[in-house]
Amino acid sequence: MGKIILTGDRPTGRLHLGHYVGSLKNRVKLQNSGEYDEIYLMIADVQALTDNFANPKKVRDNVMECVLFYLACGIDPDKTNILIQSEVPALTELTCYYMNLVTIARLYRNPTVKSEVNLRGFGESIPSGFLNYPVSQAADITAFDATTVPVGEDQMPMIEQTKEIVHSFNRIYGETLVDPDIYLPEEGFARRLPGIDGKAKMSKSLDNCIYLDATDEEIKKKVMQMYTDPNHVRVEDPGKVEGNVVFTYLDVFCKDEDFQKYLPEYKNLDELKAHYQKGGLGDVKIKKFLTNVLCDVIRPIREKKLELMNNLDYVYDVVKKGTAKANEKANATLRRAKANMGIDYFESETFLKEVKENMQKN
Ligand code: TRP
Repeated sequence: MGKIILTGDRPTGRLHLGHYVGSLKNRVKLQNSGEYDEIYLMIADVQALTDNFANPKKVRDNVMECVLFYLACGIDPDKTNILIQSEVPALTELTCYYMNLVTIARLYRNPTVKSEVNLRGFGESIPSGFLNYPVSQAADITAFDATTVPVGEDQMPMIEQTKEIVHSFNRIYGETLVDPDIYLPEEGFARRLPGIDGKAKMSKSLDNCIYLDATDEEIKKKVMQMYTDPNHVRVEDPGKVEGNVVFTYLDVFCKDEDFQKYLPEYKNLDELKAHYQKGGLGDVKIKKFLTNVLCDVIRPIREKKLELMNNLDYVYDVVKKGTAKANEKANATLRRAKANMGIDYFESETFLKEVKENMQKN
């Protein structure tokens, strides 16, 4: 079988630079590599509802928003099927069968679930749908026969959980499901972008994001608020580069050409860092530089998104067609799984014969 990609996001807000660095950029690269036979990009509204069940409007309002960001970032609907999770019923059905293969204790131990339970303050009152979402994610991945799941590092426990389910299913019911692998972005330092406040993760709920459709003015404002080195008080003071968010972002985003364009007194980032560490370089100067660099990254995405917003009929059609393709694929997997589980009563050509034989024996 060929190489197949499945990946996705929860539609709970606008996409930000953390998504771009952690997964979007990578997805576009893989899409254009020509190495994959099928690519599915899923808007995980079912999963989003596991912790937003009381606020379905938030999910509904962000579905098309996600599609717009995908297309604006370079996802090409001729190469990638964009789909809506809840419109593919085979996914929920597979989830139901996989639930038998996972213990509650194992779900509680899933590190991603654990940290999200803390973050959301569920305490002892965890909705069972939320606890179960790794199982639903295993259904997403296996329904499309995915070999490759390009996601951020925080999704590692989900892939491990999926592999366990695949192994159990194949052992009990016979070889049925494809064993997937995670595909992480290459540059180690860039896998997870910190928030502008220096917290480990950029996240809407922490209010420390730069959105992929931010205006130049908004980008400037966010960069000016960025956490740097609290001991770098006067320009003459030596400054620290490690843990300094401005430099973390420059590591990820700036290219040598940016220096020629915006800061020609330095050749490259190493020179800028050396000067900062020695002292004599102020935060405002490095922040102005980063603002220019980020504006160049975000401007084309923002402009493409605005253009697509004037063509929403087209965008709607893209996701409808992608979802239709996804249903074909997921239904085929569901049929295979049910046949191997022996619950394919009306599709099986032997079921009635078996019943008759059994009844004669007794
Ligand atoms: N859990 C992912 C997130 O929080 C979204 C997601 C749902 C997903 N199903 C998936 C990612 C399957 C990869 C594969 O963003």
